[in-house]
Amino acid sequence: MSILVLGGAGYIGSHTVDRLISNGKEDVVVVDSLVTGHKAAVNPNAKFYQGDLADQPFMRKVFKENPDIDAVIHFAAFSLVAESMKKPLKYFDNNTAGMVKLLEVMNEFDVKRIVFSSTAATYGIPEKMPIYEDDPQKPINPYGESKLMMEKIMHWSDEAYGIKFVALRYFNVAGAKPDGTIGEDHGPETHLLPIVLQVAQGKREKLMIFGDDYNTPDGTNVRDYVHPFDLADAHILAVEYLREGKESEAFNLGSSTGFSNLEILKAAREVTGKAIPTEIAGRRGGDPDTLIAASDKARKILGWKPQFDDIHKIIETAWKWHSTHPNGYNDRD
Ligand code: UFG
Repeated sequence: MSILVLGGAGYIGSHTVDRLISNGKEDVVVVDSLVTGHKAAVNPNAKFYQGDLADQPFMRKVFKENPDIDAVIHFAAFSLVAESMKKPLKYFDNNTAGMVKLLEVMNEFDVKRIVFSSTAATYGIPEKMPIYEDDPQKPINPYGESKLMMEKIMHWSDEAYGIKFVALRYFNVAGAKPDGTIGEDHGPETHLLPIVLQVAQGKREKLMIFGDDYNTPDGTNVRDYVHPFDLADAHILAVEYLREGKESEAFNLGSSTGFSNLEILKAAREVTGKAIPTEIAGRRGGDPDTLIAASDKARKILGWKPQFDDIHKIIETAWKWHSTHPNGYNDRD
């Protein structure tokens, strides 16, 4: 059997492709537009196609040329909260409308399994912590809304066409492959940990902390960090779950521990031994105070056993990637 990985050149997609190839159990086909992904991040043993999943003639060609594909893992979405507040239609077009186009072609080719990157941002401002999968989903930014709509589209496509799905709601992803060969490279970078590490490297002057007046113990946002290695394993387990003929489900993926932005800064100073100059700035739009996952369901039902439960270890892997790749994959101007 073959697995089709959409967005397999992206940060989490490339880790999943790498894990699938190193498991050696099946062929891996990657589709990526390379708008945000990097060809160099894709394990060379995967079959690579450059293109957009919303381009139906292109996707038909991919399915035609790879008739063994029986499952799709879908990472190919835009994912920046702040950008989505300014450009909501970009998110509803690429993420939400793209999902409709994809499911139409999957249905044509009778591919009835999809594992999809959803997000903690679908919960909005949670009423209680930690967050469980059946808690209310009321997004406070267009990114989260676009992903919630994708979940709903999949639900109704399951009802009508029997396309089974697993929605994996990630919390904050951080870290790199422990050998330092693949990691996070966004242009422009907006995520906390890579920015902290770029300041440690001297590539940026200082870290701006967006808000210290939130309703949290130290006033900065609290997030739950999960390593892409562990996320990759969860996707592979989710494909197995669907292949066993089980029902569509949603699972949170997090570590169940929260770290404030200031705690991340402190841990990064410890790991890197650098001062990391910092300034407190105003709030960024769309940031909930705290997001912490209850991920017992993924552990119980998928048998997920995350290996990276220590924030220092997560930061060490990211630091190894950043120190050995100061310009990331070096494939952009
Ligand atoms: N932050 C700063 N300074 C920076 C960058 C970020 O203070 O320079 C803060 C943010 O305001 C936030 C925290 O660091 O409080 C984390 O921000 P990130 O941009 O790293 O991540 P987000 O929490 O905004 O979003 C990430 C993913 C989303 C996902 C969400 C789920 O990008 O796709 O986690 O928790 F939905």
